[in-house]
Amino acid sequence: MSELTIDGHRIGILFSQAQIAERVRAIAGEIAARQPANLLVVPILKGSFVFAADLIRAMHHAGLSPEVDFMILSSYRKSTQSSGQVTVLRDIETDVRDRDVLLIDDILESGRTLAFAKDLLAARGARGAYTAVLLNKPGHLAAHIAADFKGFECPDKFVVGYGMDMAHQFRELPFVGHVIPRGAAST
Ligand code: IMP
Ligand code: MG
Repeated sequence: MSELTIDGHRIGILFSQAQIAERVRAIAGEIAARQPANLLVVPILKGSFVFAADLIRAMHHAGLSPEVDFMILSSYRKSTQSSGQVTVLRDIETDVRDRDVLLIDDILESGRTLAFAKDLLAARGARGAYTAVLLNKPGHLAAHIAADFKGFECPDKFVVGYGMDMAHQFRELPFVGHVIPRGAAST
């Protein structure tokens, strides 16, 4: 696997810019095929901002013209165990009643973040609440949820880039990489 060193951190490339672009185009086509009604797209910030920016433009090319509003959610984790508490730090300003909503997130891991957002929209009367994630990280699912649209199956590693961070670093990388622990020989 190819890797590069940034600020003393070794980053192995998991999904390249070209691979991501191809999946983003395909997902936009899958979404368009569902013929969503009066679609509202809601990126869940912050990690999804790059994926969402590419996906909404691909959706335009796929013939869709959604509205876009943003939500900031924070999920608190206790060390390795996710505590399960999700808090709304910034809510959408848009009425979702009787419309289709597409939630966009970077990673589905425990599923708690997306399950929380989906329940919230359903409670507010959304017609349908779909979910699109760039990465599906298996093995940690705690909520009863599966993404409707997904980019890649993700190995169980800490990933960064394409909007995703490690302590707010590495969001600018145009690919998805993983941070190779110091002292590791290879991956
Ligand atoms: P969950 O599905 O509620 O567990 O939340 C998944 C969220 O955890 C994602 O939206 C990310 O913000 C964060 N996350 C999980 N794994 C990683 C990772 O490997 N790198 C960066 N953020 C991660
Ligand atoms: Mg997130």
